[in-house]
Amino acid sequence: MHLYRTGAFLRAARSARFVVGSPRLAVPASCTQARWSSSHLAAEEQRPFPDQSVEPSREVDPNKTAPKSKGDSVQADFKKRLKELGQDNKIVHENLSGAKILGTPYIFDETSNVSDSILNLVGRNLYDIPDHPITITRNLIESCFPYPEFNHFTVKDPVVTVKDNFDVLGFPADHPGRSRTDTYYVNSDHLLRTHTSAHQHAAFQSLVAEKYVTGYTICADVYRRDSIDRTHFPVFHQMEGAKVWGLGPGESRYLAQAARTAKIARQLDALPKTDIEVEDQATVFSKENNPIQPEHDPVELQLVVKHLKRSLEYLVEQIHKAAKESLDPAAREAFGPLKMRWIEAYFPFTTPSFEVEVFWNGEWLELLGCGVVQQPILNNAGLRYSIGWAWGVGIERFAMLLFGIPDIRLLWSTDKRFLGQFAPGKITRFEPFSKYPACYKDIAFWINAAPAGASPVGAESSSMSGVAAAAGGNATKASPAETQPAAFHENDIMEVVRDVAGSLVEDVKLVDEFVHPTSGRKSLCYRINYRSLERTLTNEEVNRLHDEVAAKMKSRFKVELR
Ligand code: PHE
Repeated sequence: MHLYRTGAFLRAARSARFVVGSPRLAVPASCTQARWSSSHLAAEEQRPFPDQSVEPSREVDPNKTAPKSKGDSVQADFKKRLKELGQDNKIVHENLSGAKILGTPYIFDETSNVSDSILNLVGRNLYDIPDHPITITRNLIESCFPYPEFNHFTVKDPVVTVKDNFDVLGFPADHPGRSRTDTYYVNSDHLLRTHTSAHQHAAFQSLVAEKYVTGYTICADVYRRDSIDRTHFPVFHQMEGAKVWGLGPGESRYLAQAARTAKIARQLDALPKTDIEVEDQATVFSKENNPIQPEHDPVELQLVVKHLKRSLEYLVEQIHKAAKESLDPAAREAFGPLKMRWIEAYFPFTTPSFEVEVFWNGEWLELLGCGVVQQPILNNAGLRYSIGWAWGVGIERFAMLLFGIPDIRLLWSTDKRFLGQFAPGKITRFEPFSKYPACYKDIAFWINAAPAGASPVGAESSSMSGVAAAAGGNATKASPAETQPAAFHENDIMEVVRDVAGSLVEDVKLVDEFVHPTSGRKSLCYRINYRSLERTLTNEEVNRLHDEVAAKMKSRFKVELR
């Protein structure tokens, strides 16, 4: 699954619905919360979070900055041209390169790595199509976190600032998630959000002025450069949820805190009871691996953690129930009881942090990540006197389990044989319409050993070829902050295959690699499985696609084909 773990794992709402069309969530003008003089500031100041007193900007307005130099005026002219383009999401190369993405013009720079194929997927809003499995799943999740306790947001524009996606959330400068090999950069300041947490700051800000709403969910499409197989697609959907408790009434900070703790305990008691076999491997919080925060009272913290776990156990139980009910009676018998476990995790923006795994069809599956929100994030959003939890899930994983969908590409299909199978609010098993033949083709090449400059998008002549060590998907990668240029990475061939063949490829696997004993050069061989979900591909068509993949690998990465 696509969770931002690091540490040991380093690599790596109806009347209630509040649909947000603009990239900005509703941000209230004033803070209605009581203000206290805090004695906890010393601890907060030591945390790696930038102060966010200034609201993060995520829009590029071509008219905002008056041109100062000749270069500026060229840029302003180009942005104006992009803005006037009839078509959204198309990359334009003139004297500068750029694109208008959902109405906003962006100029590319040396960090840009978005492609036409990825931008073509921007704006599909699958989570808003009432009879689409993604929307049905989203609605099921939202129903477990009902209004008015929770507001439900969607955010249509996926372009966010690097600051919102990473910096504000405390991602270290060398976190692999920041790498150009993993993330689609529009330019050095903007990227296609890699997770819904990019909107946490704005969503927490939206809670400041709320009287009854103490939580939210956010649903959106997120983008990550990744391998190609039946469970990975460069765009997927996430949902994020959070809940906070502000200080209660009281004449002193101590009494107000006691009132807050009592409230959390009452709400914990009121949560629906579940009937699941739960194994909890994360009840003791170690200082080294999963510390509690210096601002938090251990007793209150335990209650928040219990509330978080119980809320998510309820969610998992509801999903399991819905999946079971969709089966015919015989299959229901075999479905078995639900087993889940809590394990420790690490996310830069929560601590302590946890992951949920469920035992499904004979194996443990990682389902979601969560934790207690890092206090500086709440403080920076105007919730200094609140404590809260947050979770994030990939919707595809739930949807594929719920509907029995075997290939993630199906969710992007416009074929009526797929879309015609579902109805709003109903979990039904997917009936495969047909399985078309697979066509395997290998591509083998020598990697160029010399690192070269990072290439601007579409500039076929410049090279991103580089050190062989980075191939294979789990070696050290260059982040935009590093001076080392981008090295060849497995995700680069994935991107070429996607650009050329789109969803006509089922998977791409490394089948052979070796280092030449005398020259020291590295050879890689990848097997590409060309298979359409909708028709039989002809030999000529596959050959043409494969030749194009080879040609692009050669021109983009300067590899030597074998
Ligand atoms: N944003 C995290 C991810 O994409 C998930 C998460 C959300 C974890 C909120 C904790 C709290 O992996």
